[in-house]
Amino acid sequence: MRIGILTSGGDCPGLNAVIRGAVLKGIQIHGQEFVGFRDGWRGVVESDIVPLGRKEIQGIAKQGGTILGTSRTNPFEGNGGVERITENLERRGIDALIAIGGEGTLAAAKRLTDAGLKIVGVPKTVDNDLGATDYTFGFDTAVQIAVDAMDRLRTTGESHSRCMVAEVMGRHVGWIALHSGMAAGAHAILIPEQKTSVEQLAEWVRSAYDRGRAPLVVVAEGFVPDEEDDAHSERGLDAFGRPRLGGIGERLAPLIEELTGIETRATTLGHIQRGGTPSAYDRVLATRLGMAASDSVAEGRWGRMVALRGTEIEHVSFEEALGTLKVVPQNRYDEAAILFG
Ligand code: F6P
Repeated sequence: MRIGILTSGGDCPGLNAVIRGAVLKGIQIHGQEFVGFRDGWRGVVESDIVPLGRKEIQGIAKQGGTILGTSRTNPFEGNGGVERITENLERRGIDALIAIGGEGTLAAAKRLTDAGLKIVGVPKTVDNDLGATDYTFGFDTAVQIAVDAMDRLRTTGESHSRCMVAEVMGRHVGWIALHSGMAAGAHAILIPEQKTSVEQLAEWVRSAYDRGRAPLVVVAEGFVPDEEDDAHSERGLDAFGRPRLGGIGERLAPLIEELTGIETRATTLGHIQRGGTPSAYDRVLATRLGMAASDSVAEGRWGRMVALRGTEIEHVSFEEALGTLKVVPQNRYDEAAILFG
């Protein structure tokens, strides 16, 4: 069987480990053959393929990014669509696809599977917001990068007796903020799931400052302040028409300063969280997911995504995978909030 692999949507540390896991197991155990599509669905629509054998995957588990490239191309727009994709796959002799991506990628994969294509999915999101899997690779790395940055922010904050605001990724959910903030000893964590007033935030900051600490505030980019309806966006829309987020930290800093009189600085960590080498945890998880995807193809589990449940890799339908956003539950936030202020 000849399989095409694509990585689609925002990149994430661990993508290369998935590719390696799938190709190694596929070649060694299932006698499969692989090619890579360049830049996600763009490569599928434009039939832009690269060889993907043992040589191409040598030593890539520790490399960040994706050797195949990625894009936020929608396969149903422009020249795309079911007919064109089916034709491309037939012409290239490709029997099945392994699509590695987040919500948008899996939604497209579901539509194509419903139309008769043979696709298995691998979940990818640094935000860790897919309900059907306990953890996604890339999340652990992003949290560690954020914690390293916060440890640094704390020492400069302490030298100047300043409040430091660290903005992290997290469009719909606050997992990166919750985990990095807890690990770094933040005095306040603001996440999309929890409305928090600026007055409450100022109270936490003042209380930490009054104890002689340099307050650290961690805010997820998707946080919506109490008195507002939408997350802060000043950079237009992305290819899927979603507002590009980022900048809430810079907006909160002067408000904190105004309400508390404490000098405040904000840092947006942005794409640094998605760059560089994956952590050991993410390499292992990604490798296991890649190997399971090759098994799924061998067993013809079309329209299903590999998922981590506890410590086991399981298979869930695209419907189930797309069904629920994994938000931070109230009890997890309440537990973290005991440490605020
Ligand atoms: O979905 C993952 C994510 O990293 C979000 O946290 C963030 O809002 C978005 O992607 C950024 O996307 P882009 O790389 O297109 O700027």
